[in-house]
Amino acid sequence: MTKKLTKAVLPVAGLGTRFLPATKAMAKEMLPVVDKPLIQYAVDEARAAGITQFCMITGRGKIALVEHFDVAYELESTLRQRGKEAEIAALREAQLAPGDIVTVRQQVPLGLGHAIWCARAFIGDDPFAILLPDDLILSDTPCTQQLAEAYYETGGSVVAICEVPPDQTNKYGILKIGADDGRLVEVTGLVEKPKPEDAPSNLSIIGRYVLLPDVIEHLSRMERGAGNEVQLTDSMARMIGNTPFHGLRYKGQRFDCGDKVGFLEAQIAFALRRPEMAAQVRNFLRKYQEPA
Ligand code: UTP
Repeated sequence: MTKKLTKAVLPVAGLGTRFLPATKAMAKEMLPVVDKPLIQYAVDEARAAGITQFCMITGRGKIALVEHFDVAYELESTLRQRGKEAEIAALREAQLAPGDIVTVRQQVPLGLGHAIWCARAFIGDDPFAILLPDDLILSDTPCTQQLAEAYYETGGSVVAICEVPPDQTNKYGILKIGADDGRLVEVTGLVEKPKPEDAPSNLSIIGRYVLLPDVIEHLSRMERGAGNEVQLTDSMARMIGNTPFHGLRYKGQRFDCGDKVGFLEAQIAFALRRPEMAAQVRNFLRKYQEPA
């Protein structure tokens, strides 16, 4: 029987080197897009897919990420005295119920695979979603919900995928594929960061997954892969053939917020979706357009 998907793992223990110096004393996942930190977009997306239990994989200097989901008594009471009800509502939206979030320390960032392995006690025997908060997705149906639907359909692991330029396969986890109905793709192999000439396709995994718990036993081997890191992709590759494994061409637009230009584009795209500021943003953008 396909088990209900209720758990999500949020790995946030990376160093964020591409965003230095902004990430020297602050987690990359606390960077705001318009007025919400990246981590909250990820939690909101997971909640919309019915997920109720969260495990954040943290490291040094990441306390603010946990505090963000806590109750802020002093701030709330000051806001109440000042009659700022809308602001109180915004704070409450960021709260998680007691017991719904746990944290695990990764101590040393040995790679995404190692980060997920650190959540093994939380995962237990249950399927779980992984959301990398620096991948931000703008969509009508939240991406994790699309994955959850595909998980219930196939009963196996599902990863969100998109096409990447063929000369850039060496930046991504790339799929080898079998049957393809245009939406769901059967995964027959996975390679982390292959050179373009070795890449089995130009379909890449993005930072959204629903995995069966079997991945943990493969991760336990702690084998190092590309970049000498413990790669999640390598352990997922070992699951193929034992349980169903699919890629989902999700509907939506993905922004790589771990990259400076991707982050700036996300600001604009998300601001343009906000009715109270869209017109103003559109106006100022005109100032920066190159003359035709
Ligand atoms: P990235 O590859 O974006 O690495 O990690 P990074 O350290 O965050 O950023 P750069 O490349 O140095 O700028 C993808 C995701 O995996 C997490 C990161 O926090 C991010 O969400 N991660 C990565 C871990 O939690 N632990 C690790 O050891 C590595």
